[in-house]
Amino acid sequence: MGRLLSFLLCFSSFFISATLADWNILNQRTKSGLKITLKSYCESWRINVELHNIQDFTVVPEECVSYIGKYVASSQYQVDSERAIEECRLYLTTSCPLKKDGRDAWLFDIDDTLLSTVPYFKKHHFGGEKLNLTSLEGWMSRGKAPALEHSLKFFDELKSTGVQIFLVSSRREHLRSATIDNLVDVGYHGWTRLILRGPDDELNEVKQYKANVRKQLISNGLKPGTGIGHPGCIDVSILAARST
Ligand SMILES: *[C@@H]1O[C@H](CO)[C@@H](O)[C@H](O)[C@H]1NC(C)=O
Repeated sequence: MGRLLSFLLCFSSFFISATLADWNILNQRTKSGLKITLKSYCESWRINVELHNIQDFTVVPEECVSYIGKYVASSQYQVDSERAIEECRLYLTTSCPLKKDGRDAWLFDIDDTLLSTVPYFKKHHFGGEKLNLTSLEGWMSRGKAPALEHSLKFFDELKSTGVQIFLVSSRREHLRSATIDNLVDVGYHGWTRLILRGPDDELNEVKQYKANVRKQLISNGLKPGTGIGHPGCIDVSILAARST
């Protein structure tokens, strides 16, 4: 145990000095001349990913990998996650008065909304390496993703108000049974439909695919409140911004 611990400590201090060395070669001022630290640089990068100002990045910048690792393990991440759900509750009660006609619906994404992919990315350099879909899907197929605790609570509250719940994920069809097992295992049940990406949808961008599903549900007479497209309700973590 002692050996393992000192190995880990050596490893992490090596890692920190490596990233700091990388950092030193960067310009430590913004364009307008403001002084920035590594932390403020990475914080600003993360916020802009969450706001979708930065899109289609393939890897987390190397110098920010350790910042991201710390963020997802921090109480800040927990606070952010709880707040996102709180905003969903507020939206539900103020902006989408329920018709209570059995056709009210709520759309949930799955990854990093109901289930967390953090354990996967913890083993994969916190997004600092190019996403390997085979390996990510392998992890998903084992069905061990933990629930996001506040999402689970909100899911149950929604159910008790009689709102139909639709799960719309960019996961592919072959992951259907593993996804159901995983969801049920961690406490989600009672949704109306689980919509995954079929072969035709795979050609579409994730955003387009989700917009199509939403349109189709509406044309079938449902009245989706939100979920997809409501910034407070998705993308609790920057990892959700990856096109998985
Ligand atoms: C992606 O992951 C799979 C399964 O873990 C592995 O066999 C493959 O070599 C990986 N591909 C790359 C390019 O790393």
